[in-house]
Amino acid sequence: MTRLRLTGIDKAFGATQALRGVSLAVAAGEVHALIGENGAGKSTLMKVLSGVVRPDAGTMELDGAPYLPSDTLAARRHGVAMIYQELSLAPHLSAWENIVLGSEPHRLGWLDKKEARARARGALARLAHGHLDLDRAAGEFSIAEQQVIEIARALLAEPRVLIMDEPTSSLTQADTERLFAVVRQLRAEGVSVIYISHFLEEVRQVADRFTVLKDGQTVGSGELAAVSQAEIVRLMVGREVRKLYPARTGRPGAVVLTLRAPSGPALELRAGEILGVAGLIGAGRTELLRAVFGLDKSALYVTTPARRWAEGVGFLSENRKEEGLMLPLSVAENTTLTKFSALARGGWLRTGGIEAVTADWIGRLGIKTRGPKQAVGELSGGNQQKVALARLLQHPAKILLLDEPTRGIDVGSKAQIYALIAQLAAEGRAVVLVSSYLPELFGLCDRIAVMRRGALVECRDRAAWTEPELMTVAVGAAA
Ligand SMILES: Nc1ncnc2c1ncn2[C@@H]1O[C@H](COP(=O)(O)OP(=O)(O)OP(=O)(O)O)[C@@H](O)[C@H]1O
Ligand SMILES: [Mg+2]
Repeated sequence: MTRLRLTGIDKAFGATQALRGVSLAVAAGEVHALIGENGAGKSTLMKVLSGVVRPDAGTMELDGAPYLPSDTLAARRHGVAMIYQELSLAPHLSAWENIVLGSEPHRLGWLDKKEARARARGALARLAHGHLDLDRAAGEFSIAEQQVIEIARALLAEPRVLIMDEPTSSLTQADTERLFAVVRQLRAEGVSVIYISHFLEEVRQVADRFTVLKDGQTVGSGELAAVSQAEIVRLMVGREVRKLYPARTGRPGAVVLTLRAPSGPALELRAGEILGVAGLIGAGRTELLRAVFGLDKSALYVTTPARRWAEGVGFLSENRKEEGLMLPLSVAENTTLTKFSALARGGWLRTGGIEAVTADWIGRLGIKTRGPKQAVGELSGGNQQKVALARLLQHPAKILLLDEPTRGIDVGSKAQIYALIAQLAAEGRAVVLVSSYLPELFGLCDRIAVMRRGALVECRDRAAWTEPELMTVAVGAAA
């Protein structure tokens, strides 16, 4: 039975035609993968479906009846719930308040707090997070936990259609497995799940059918089992992506930085090398980079970001929304200004210069935008991430601290970014690459260190690790 049918959906934002004549059909009890490059229109299509964005043309049908939600609450009442790519919790409200928002139980006209908390607890328990403190403000949880809270909120809508926009981008392997178990359970209950992800291996594990969007159009759909990975990539990118990881040349030079974690041995970083840092979420990888950069007080490093910046150290945060980008400002302003601009020997770039520099980065990273003057907040998630990277690379740092630099980036663009990082290393810069995506650590790094519980527990040359060995060390299991 067809649960959902979208036909001829158009949507323009000013001069940007985000969707043109898109169609999508999803059966009841089906997990449907929505695949496409950064800026292809995936999030926009899902926002049309969940009532955030009104389409310019086209029709939607839900279980055979016409469907056009006026807003997200109307969509929720129809059983269409969405988990957003950018977390959308109210940070100051408690976990339970966020979870029941929009589906609050009432008794005699009053919010039934006891029942609301019980439902929130129940939804979290389904996601194996029944232990979370319901009264804590949502903003105080880790990103992975916030994602779980968002999913719990969606479950309370008792969805007929559940939309997940890159739900696993900051989940651990174990949390991802749990999420998949929930997705499979929902499918068995007849819920239709639309699943967006740039992890194509993962998509195969969980989805039955797929639709590929390219430049706002449907370019293919079918059974996942019937197509190869390469065919999907070709549909997405429009060409073959043969080499994801670049060849590495050059050899490490002088020691430029010593990495010190709260416990365990220190690690020397050399010019021209790419040092990967693996570990589970919460192992202390982000904390390590933040301490080195002077963002958090640490007994091991007495410094400030401004001083680090002046020394030629650059840092890319994993959380671009909070400390990365200024969404209302233009791509050019975000690329060329820095939070530490008082110290950057800047001031010499005139407006024309700024736009030329930005245009160059737009080309090098393939940023999908109308041009340097467009507000960053109007770009797709992956393209915002590319702007954050452009801003960092635009300054001549000798040491680059990169925290999950390719989160949310499509395969074709990943290849471009890897090539760029390799080139920077070949020029003699030192790179610390924190990543939860093991293939990328193995594909790009000279050495890979593993963190566990705040300590750098082991570092080896890339060739001396296997993925299972590395995971064994990361989880701390006896080998
Ligand atoms: N509010 C907006 N104003 C202007 N343009 C927008 C707006 N929202 C989206 N767009 C544009 O619509 C196009 C599609 O964006 P969308 O966010 O749907 O892409 P996506 O497929 O989800 O990409 P990603 O993988 O990077 O998340 C992009 O060119 C984007 O810049
Ligand atoms: Mg998106």
